[in-house]
Amino acid sequence: ITRDVSLLSPVCECNGMSRQCVFDWHLLRETGNGFRCVGCQGNTEGARCERCKPGFFRQRGGDCCLPCHCHPRGSLSPQCDSEGRCSCKPGVMGKRCDQCQPGFESLSEVGCRRSGRLLSPRCECDPAGSTQGCVSGHCVCKASTTGERCERCKQNFYNLDARNPAGCSPCFCYGHSAVCVSADNHSIYNITSTFQQGAEGWRGVHASGSPAHFQWSPRHQDAFIAARRSEPIYFVAPAKFLGNQQLSYGQTLSFDYRLDRGGRQPSPHDVVLEGDGLRVTAPFLAQGKVLPCGVSQTYTFRLDEHPSSKWSPRLNHFEYRRLLGNLTALWIRATFGEYSTGYIDNVTLVSAQPMAGVPAPWVEHCECPVGYQGQFCERCAPGYRRDVPGTGPFSVCVLCNCQGGGICDPDTGECYSGDENVGNSFSCPFGFYRDPRQPHDCRACPCSNGQGCTVVPGGEEVICDHCPPGAAGANCEYCADGYFGDPAAARPCQPCQCNGNVEPNAVGNCDRLTGECLKCIYNTAGFYCDRCKDGFFGNPLAPDPADKCRACACNSAGSEPLKCASDGSCICKPGFEGPNCEESECPACYDQVKAQVDLYLQQLAELELLFSDVQAGGGAESQELEGRMQLAEEMLRTILGEALSLQASDRSLESRVARMKGQGSSSQSLLDEIKATVGRLRSLGSQYEGQVRETRKLLERARLDLDHSGAALRWVTIPVSKLPGGSNQFLMLAQEALRLANSHAQAASSVDQGARAAEEDARR
Ligand SMILES: *[C@@H]1O[C@H](CO)[C@@H](O)[C@H](O)[C@H]1NC(C)=O
Ligand SMILES: *[C@@H]1O[C@H](CO)[C@@H](O)[C@H](O)[C@H]1NC(C)=O
Ligand SMILES: *[C@@H]1O[C@H](CO)[C@@H](O)[C@H](O)[C@H]1NC(C)=O
Ligand SMILES: *[C@@H]1O[C@H](CO)[C@@H](O)[C@H](O)[C@H]1NC(C)=O
Repeated sequence: ITRDVSLLSPVCECNGMSRQCVFDWHLLRETGNGFRCVGCQGNTEGARCERCKPGFFRQRGGDCCLPCHCHPRGSLSPQCDSEGRCSCKPGVMGKRCDQCQPGFESLSEVGCRRSGRLLSPRCECDPAGSTQGCVSGHCVCKASTTGERCERCKQNFYNLDARNPAGCSPCFCYGHSAVCVSADNHSIYNITSTFQQGAEGWRGVHASGSPAHFQWSPRHQDAFIAARRSEPIYFVAPAKFLGNQQLSYGQTLSFDYRLDRGGRQPSPHDVVLEGDGLRVTAPFLAQGKVLPCGVSQTYTFRLDEHPSSKWSPRLNHFEYRRLLGNLTALWIRATFGEYSTGYIDNVTLVSAQPMAGVPAPWVEHCECPVGYQGQFCERCAPGYRRDVPGTGPFSVCVLCNCQGGGICDPDTGECYSGDENVGNSFSCPFGFYRDPRQPHDCRACPCSNGQGCTVVPGGEEVICDHCPPGAAGANCEYCADGYFGDPAAARPCQPCQCNGNVEPNAVGNCDRLTGECLKCIYNTAGFYCDRCKDGFFGNPLAPDPADKCRACACNSAGSEPLKCASDGSCICKPGFEGPNCEESECPACYDQVKAQVDLYLQQLAELELLFSDVQAGGGAESQELEGRMQLAEEMLRTILGEALSLQASDRSLESRVARMKGQGSSSQSLLDEIKATVGRLRSLGSQYEGQVRETRKLLERARLDLDHSGAALRWVTIPVSKLPGGSNQFLMLAQEALRLANSHAQAASSVDQGARAAEEDARR
């Protein structure tokens, strides 16, 4: 019935892959050209034979398409790229995804599994909080993380960070509290020396401590030290890298270093940190490696006590914090032996500053106990002093113990009374008042919940009238809107900590007692609005709302509802794949069959219309009739193919059911029921297949009839009497086939759901 129309019509254009077209109304409506190529050669397809069939590729347009040969189990899809490379499942490699990567074994439906370990494909471990992903269906958490997916910090830890080998950092708070969260008012700030303008205060010193000649190169804008003798010489950092560097804890010190000539053998003392009587050192490179000669490299050191950070001796967390809290020396080795020269550039100490900007979540915000104050509990609260005077923020705060309840100098413990420093301008700190009888004394307010007070002018009466910041109520017993805590239980009110993800002026932003953020915006959610809400992904802590949380772009049918990974990648349901889970793995998936059937149904309806038009005495061109029958036949062929592969999927369902049974599920009757359905489905499938065969035969006959009657009538209207006798019967049969196909699709859907439910049951 197809005919060579290339001569008749210039619009049968098949990219050189066919010379035959049929006419298609839909195509005409959609594209303005109704000629659809048939019999595309060279493994092409499409209305113009314009693309490769699925599973084929070509390097240049116009070439024939070659088969991808993607391994059915090792590949994510049968499709390869224009080089013929297939996309492999985890652990799989090779152009055709037919081999396991080194360290992996047993190529199966889920890819290759790590040698010697059972990997479950369904674990979704937080990469920041877990180590080796998923073992036997459970995420293996780093030392300081917890949660089913290792997505949270353990209690008394904060700041989940992928770069942290322990996952989270322990709360520090100068040892006065173990409760903290990431602060929200610090931003990243780098302390750097780039030697653009000069030496920037750097010096040189011999290991023995005597000064060494330090040089700056205006031309190369770097610094260097040349040795004549073998004694190591060090670059000595200027003051901006020293002092209290707590805000660099867990962050990195890095620099570009180059060695010309010399021994090239790193020592354990190439980088030296000193502070608070402690000293740690680290080698440039791990033992056994040598420094590259004449090549500048970036060396990076993490500032924490974790074993992988390579500092020796090994300090504990507190010692390391003490060292960072009063850094007195930072030395970087310059020379390695006689006549060696070391060059340094781009020294960077990652730190934070108390300003808006890119957030620095490694800075903590502590919840301080009574007697302490400050973001890090670094101060004594009014009325308290250091237990041991002059020992700084690490030492314990105790009550002042002044005569008459006055307050004292928090550091020295000296009571403020009758002191010459404390003149008339002196006013008492919050929570204290000036006793009219002893004007140089501050006394604690006789009020509950840390409330402030004033003395009635001219009298001696004291009234409680000032709530601490954030507190409210007659006795300051609860927290004001925008704050949380429980002053009555000695938990001072703090501002809501919602990571900037609430309307600043809204009411009820957080729970007044617990601090739980209640009005997260920018598509965030979570206790601190610190994650994206379901169906969204991104960095909820990004400063720009546009960078925060975006909607997951996942195919709703093929992906887990309202979920995608933190990088936006979709989590596909079983049987679906592709970046958006839009492709079903098996061509047999029932909704594809259904779509096909719907399309066919529509075609058939139009064909029916055409026939009835003709029967009612109207006219139809035989060419058109032919074209449409041709189309109908193609559709039937497709459906037949679907039916066959559907049966294949029935078989896989059956094996799934068998597997579940092997797992000893209790829902025996459910399994039996499913099995029976599968059986019914299969017989339905073969019945259906028979019907389709029947239909095709009929169609063949109809076509012959048509050819006989219309041989001389091409392009002319066929009279009603000349209509092929079988056409009505053909329609009926085709409709029957469709009905079957439909119920087949529905049965497939229900059996699939049933199997999934049973599988769920079995797992439980
Ligand atoms: C700070 O330094 C680190 C490490 O060198 C770098 O990755 C980061 O981009 C720098 N950040 C800023 C704000 O300069
Ligand atoms: C830091 O250490 C130096 C030297 O040990 C000492 O003089 C100084 O008081 C310390 N500073 C602080 C804030 O502890
Ligand atoms: C220091 O950093 C600058 C800017 O990134 C770069 O151009 C330069 O090469 C670096 N210096 C060295 C020695 O790598
Ligand atoms: C940061 O916030 C905390 C409380 O939210 C406050 O104690 C601290 O002073 C703030 N720091 C700065 C620099 O604003």
